[in-house]
Amino acid sequence: MRLTRSAQAHQDERIAFRRAFLRDVVQGLRRPQKELPCKYFYDERGSALFDQICELDEYYLTRAEMAILRAHAAEMAGRIGADCELIEFGSGSGLKTRLLLDQLREPRAYLPIDIDRGSLERSARELTRRFPGLRVLPIHGDFTAPLVLPRTGDPRARRVVYFPGSTIGNFRPREALALLRRIARLVGAGGGLLLGFDLDKDESIVGPAYNDGRGVTAAFNLNLLARINRELDADFDLGAFVHRAIYVRTRERVEMYLVSQKAQVVRIEGLEFEFQAGEAIRTEYSHKYRLGHFGRLTARAGFSLDRQWLDSQGYSVVQYLTVD
Ligand code: SAH
Ligand code: TRP
Repeated sequence: MRLTRSAQAHQDERIAFRRAFLRDVVQGLRRPQKELPCKYFYDERGSALFDQICELDEYYLTRAEMAILRAHAAEMAGRIGADCELIEFGSGSGLKTRLLLDQLREPRAYLPIDIDRGSLERSARELTRRFPGLRVLPIHGDFTAPLVLPRTGDPRARRVVYFPGSTIGNFRPREALALLRRIARLVGAGGGLLLGFDLDKDESIVGPAYNDGRGVTAAFNLNLLARINRELDADFDLGAFVHRAIYVRTRERVEMYLVSQKAQVVRIEGLEFEFQAGEAIRTEYSHKYRLGHFGRLTARAGFSLDRQWLDSQGYSVVQYLTVD
């Protein structure tokens, strides 16, 4: 079958993606503490489940950040200024972006980056409809990998990265620092970073956000194994693993696991992986920072704090950081 150039490019991309997915899964499951990289949560089903998480009573994070945006997006836009090129890391459904774009003065372009092509294209279409004058240039890919941004061809455009949703909290502090440094380099002197992250707080609030009553978070976590079965040649028994999330407050983080309910062997592309009864695969961290700790990371990455906004309960924070 002959393919058009773009269909061929898509197919090449899918093949390269599958190879990297397999490599990451195999490497992760060969570690003494088995782990899977959290960026693979977000396929079509994963993104749909994440959108459901955002609407759960227990999941305070989205509500807190939306409240901050509703109250302060105008001021954020004022700090960012006119003429910016807004680059969003992990844009997802783009719900928060709308509140920001409503206020931004003459942004030159909006460049959402997401690893899930479906959400990326949907939200790009939606935002193009809502903001007809805006140049929307979606980028499908991994924001932790080297990025090639399309040229907007405008030397006046100042780059500002928007990075909401406490996605930065899903990295270990050392990885977060490396990512912040790359963002500082990407935006350059005079550029900015509008960053949302979650704060340390009582277990009675954090715990339920990752252990909801309806089991949506469990389904989201387990979808990672279902995805490995779908996209790689694997035979995870989804009934033999359970979701577990614990808040380790001394380490400022929620740790998420999938726990094997019995001794079992899982096959992936002909390779065998043994699980003991009770053995856990770590799937994600979600850090709940203290402001001081996070401030040291952003300072080391070369950012100065311009302004920050908290929700009325002090659950989450949005910071505007600049590179001098
Ligand atoms: N910004 C939204 C969504 C947060 S969920 C909000 O605040 O509610 C995290 C988003 O980042 C998902 O859409 C996911 O697909 C994307 N994502 C996660 N890891 C990524 C990576 N390494 N590269 C690009 N996108 C990633
Ligand atoms: N950035 C989100 C957070 O840390 C991601 C997330 C929410 C998540 N719920 C989850 C990741 C459940 C894994 C499992 O809150």
